[in-house]
Amino acid sequence: MRDPIAVEDLDEKSARKELARLSMEIRAADAAYYQDDAPHLSDADYDALRQRNLAIEARFPHLKRKDSPTDQIGAPITDGFGKIEHGLPMLSLDNAFSPADVEEFGARIRRFLGLSDAEALVLTAEPKIDGLSLSLTYESGALVRAATRGDGRVGEDVTANASTLSDIPKTLAGSGWPDRIEIRGEVYMANEDFAELNRLEEAAGRKTYMNPRNAAAGGLRQKDPKITAQRPLKFFAYAWGETSKPFATTQSEAVAQLTGWGFATNPLFAAHKTIASLLAAYRDISEQRAELGYDIDGVVYKVDRLDWQSRLGQVSRFPRWAIAHKFPAEKAITKLEAIDIQVGRTGSLTPVARLVPVTVGGVVVSNATLHNEDEIERLDVRVGDHVEIQRAGDVIPQVLRVTDSDRDGRGDPFQPPERCPECGSPAVRLVDENGEADVRRRCTGGLICPAQITERLKHFVSRKALDIDGLGGKQIELFYERGIVTAPQHIFQLDARIEQAGYPPLAEWDGFGKTSADKLRAAIDARRNVPFDRFLIGLGIRNVGQTISNLFARNFVQWSSFWSAVEAACDAPDSEAEQALLAIDGIGQTAINSLKEFAREAANEEMLETLLNEVTVLDGEAPTTDTAVAGKTVVFTGTLERMTRDEAKAQATRLGAKVSGSVSGKTDILVAGPGAGSKLKKAESLGVQVLTETEWLELIAP
Ligand code: IVH
Repeated sequence: MRDPIAVEDLDEKSARKELARLSMEIRAADAAYYQDDAPHLSDADYDALRQRNLAIEARFPHLKRKDSPTDQIGAPITDGFGKIEHGLPMLSLDNAFSPADVEEFGARIRRFLGLSDAEALVLTAEPKIDGLSLSLTYESGALVRAATRGDGRVGEDVTANASTLSDIPKTLAGSGWPDRIEIRGEVYMANEDFAELNRLEEAAGRKTYMNPRNAAAGGLRQKDPKITAQRPLKFFAYAWGETSKPFATTQSEAVAQLTGWGFATNPLFAAHKTIASLLAAYRDISEQRAELGYDIDGVVYKVDRLDWQSRLGQVSRFPRWAIAHKFPAEKAITKLEAIDIQVGRTGSLTPVARLVPVTVGGVVVSNATLHNEDEIERLDVRVGDHVEIQRAGDVIPQVLRVTDSDRDGRGDPFQPPERCPECGSPAVRLVDENGEADVRRRCTGGLICPAQITERLKHFVSRKALDIDGLGGKQIELFYERGIVTAPQHIFQLDARIEQAGYPPLAEWDGFGKTSADKLRAAIDARRNVPFDRFLIGLGIRNVGQTISNLFARNFVQWSSFWSAVEAACDAPDSEAEQALLAIDGIGQTAINSLKEFAREAANEEMLETLLNEVTVLDGEAPTTDTAVAGKTVVFTGTLERMTRDEAKAQATRLGAKVSGSVSGKTDILVAGPGAGSKLKKAESLGVQVLTETEWLELIAP
């Protein structure tokens, strides 16, 4: 090769070309070194390329490439990933599956905001990228942190890795950015890049990735950022979290700002004035899906006005102002080889179809759910049949129908098991007071059933509940088989129980070693102080999941007062304690009944007692305590004129009030609009403070 032109002799045009060539060569050299383990340059030659690249960038700063090799490599992550708490939670999206669902989404927003039909409701539409979400924190325009979604509240610190992506600006371009802002978007891999990566992986004798999303996730979560740098990862920005100041008034304006600051935003993003136009955009994007070059799994709609977004707020993990309109699920035909029975943590028996493996939408499927025995009867599906299966997103694939036309010589109809396959206890379908059989067959073995126990234990340590790092399904099964952990409290007595059972210390076990044993112990100890809601979720009580547990934690704050109320409700149905539980907006009789059922079980009572000797349940977060209405029980009645009832309730909850549907001695404030009737009378007779809507708004004004 001819000697390259000296840096000081380059003109702008040749410098630009030279930077492009260097970027490519350095990337190729990196790939050869890190990916193929076959470096083709000496260290000195490699360093010379980087030096030259740096020197040209120093002379022509404005020519520095977005994918400049200078920015590509961060400091290696040594030991796993740290945790980062998001400034604002990273939410999920509720789903719509049909135009009717989308119409209902629009109508719901109108109702919530109290918009007349004449008032325009502008919504935006954009592809739903099938990747993984990432939150980027910028301070004074510089990238300081990148975190994965994690559980929505706390994610993993992938700063070093994320900063190797050329789509992620290390410093924001343009102007007008807040001093501090969390920018959110999706990391993904283009289909062509995915195919190429798998080709390389296969050639190197490594495992290939299932789909571009897994490849993107794998790429971002590499221990060594230099490897991430080699992966062709891309990023679309589409949202933001905490910001030090508002920077736009509409979603469209915000996205335009993101583009101006140097982010890739989706070119198909557009605003629409009617639901009809929104649905046309959905059809349009569906038609382009195959040609986009990257996987999308639906279209996301968002309310354009940001003041309306904040009024709409969120329900549980979903914003009320956005929804994902999902594409129809992918289907395939295969053969049913067997029907197995799986026992869940509440003892329900689920028939599972074992299938001849088949690829559905890029993923190999070998199991599908058959839901319950009525469903098997309805489908008339038998072992040996060909069946059509469907896979939608991450949900468990399901069997849709039998496809064979020839119905002769088939296997026998499915016989539901009369005994639990795991513990041999009778398996029954309970009949309710109306004589209707439960669709689920349940194992009656309770805590003698190993499947129920291990499933409960796995749930107890799972991410939603106690979230104990290093204690997953495999470890639970191992400890259970050895008789070491058969109840939740045993997890906190691990070392003693290992010794009692006559096993050597954990550090000497196969697959553990001192480091993992120490880590596991630390992770367990870290959960000796456990948040109220996680603890309640962990108990795995039927009908008491995340949302309900959260409501109890916020309303009762102290575990002891909550559990006393449950126990009192067990002793005296319809008691004041039961009313207090029921008074919480969002809590219904079903949840209360399940709680009572759980509390009445002597074994559970004993378990709770020993468990509470091991762990301390932290007080729930009373939402906000520094507002005028925090902790007060509020009831709304009559017509509200300045906001809708739903909005008023959501706002009151945000401010720390408990919203109830009925007036009782516990009610602190009744907000009565025109047309108030019996509730107003009752409040007056009980001496409850009564406010007009305006007075209420004055009371809560900041
Ligand atoms: S908006 C509060 N827009 O979908 C709303 N999300 O199923 C924040 N996603 O967790 C999300 N493409 O990871 C939004 N254009 C898009 C998206 C998108 C993909 C992901 C995101 C989110 C998940 C919810």
